[in-house]
Amino acid sequence: MKVNGTPTRTIWVEEAASADRPGRVGIIDQTRLPHAFETVSLTTPEAAAHAISDMLVRGAPLIGATAAYGLALGIHENASDARLAALYDRLHATRPTAINLRWALDQMMATLRPLPEAEREAAAWVRAAEICDEDAEINRMIGMHGLDLIREIAARRPGPVNILTHCNAGWLATVDWGTATSPIYQAHDAGIAVHVWVDETRPRNQGAALTSWELANHGVPHHLITDNTGGHLMQQGLVDLVITGTDRTTANGDVCNKIGTYLKALAAQDNNVPFYVALPSPTIDFRLESGAEIPIEERSSDEVSWVHGKDPEGRVTKVRISPEATPAANYAFDVTPARLVSGLITEKGIVPAEHGAIAALFPERAAAAA
Ligand code: MRU
Repeated sequence: MKVNGTPTRTIWVEEAASADRPGRVGIIDQTRLPHAFETVSLTTPEAAAHAISDMLVRGAPLIGATAAYGLALGIHENASDARLAALYDRLHATRPTAINLRWALDQMMATLRPLPEAEREAAAWVRAAEICDEDAEINRMIGMHGLDLIREIAARRPGPVNILTHCNAGWLATVDWGTATSPIYQAHDAGIAVHVWVDETRPRNQGAALTSWELANHGVPHHLITDNTGGHLMQQGLVDLVITGTDRTTANGDVCNKIGTYLKALAAQDNNVPFYVALPSPTIDFRLESGAEIPIEERSSDEVSWVHGKDPEGRVTKVRISPEATPAANYAFDVTPARLVSGLITEKGIVPAEHGAIAALFPERAAAAA
């Protein structure tokens, strides 16, 4: 994707490891968007871990990519098995729900463990870069398959195709393209008129702050809506298609995604609006049969009680929106049962959210988990 006209990824190598230095990785500080575009250099695994848990980077695929580089940053002086295991545990503990984190760390371990210690650091940088390239390519392919869906709707009637999305499953949540947004960008680039309803996505407002910023940057027509608006729009016939991302999808096709996704799926079902989920294969957890087994992250209540924004004088500030004495609960994700999902848009095509169909598309992954 382009930022101010320049092709940009969400994570990049600023300086590869050398004999005397452990290397440096650049990220966008997403906590500063949309009001400021700032980058941060990561030079230690601890900095990578903080970037993930404090959500400077977020979104399942980007969390995985950052963890992979975090591991590479941590083995400059010591690449022993014990060091690898300690880094794995530290990085894995940063966020519990998105399975891409574990997937990426497992990929790194599978590459590094069989190697002599002296070769591990160089190999880690290579594998982390591959994980990033693979993510960009997976998402590009998801976009191509999702584009067919949008094209079909566009062919049926005049006017823009109205797509509702939740949270940010965009370029910023991945290394490039995004998952849910990839079909949207590809449709827009192909000259198909699309319009996006962007759920603000309380409490952290990833839709308001991030998805809106991305779409505006790319010139895609969109409107920001409150989280409670989608059902009304569907009743009015103003939503042709819902596409969301996912942080973990289980073997039976249950979809875990940002809190509030389930309610959109229920509204979509009630209004015969197709509800699709963009699903990169590293986000499938074949070890779990159903979404009930997924750990749901609970974050600080401050994220609910306070909101960040720009005041009329242009200062970015935060304000409390509830009484001091009111406690808040902050569940970060929910599970949409497979029966509410019209289909999964993967890099290999669109499949029903069903065990057999998913396993048939990714037989090696399914077999490895069996
Ligand atoms: O808590 P976040 O911002 O990391 O949650 C992100 C989401 O829920 C996205 O919709 C999901 O990760 C899909 S990312 C392609």
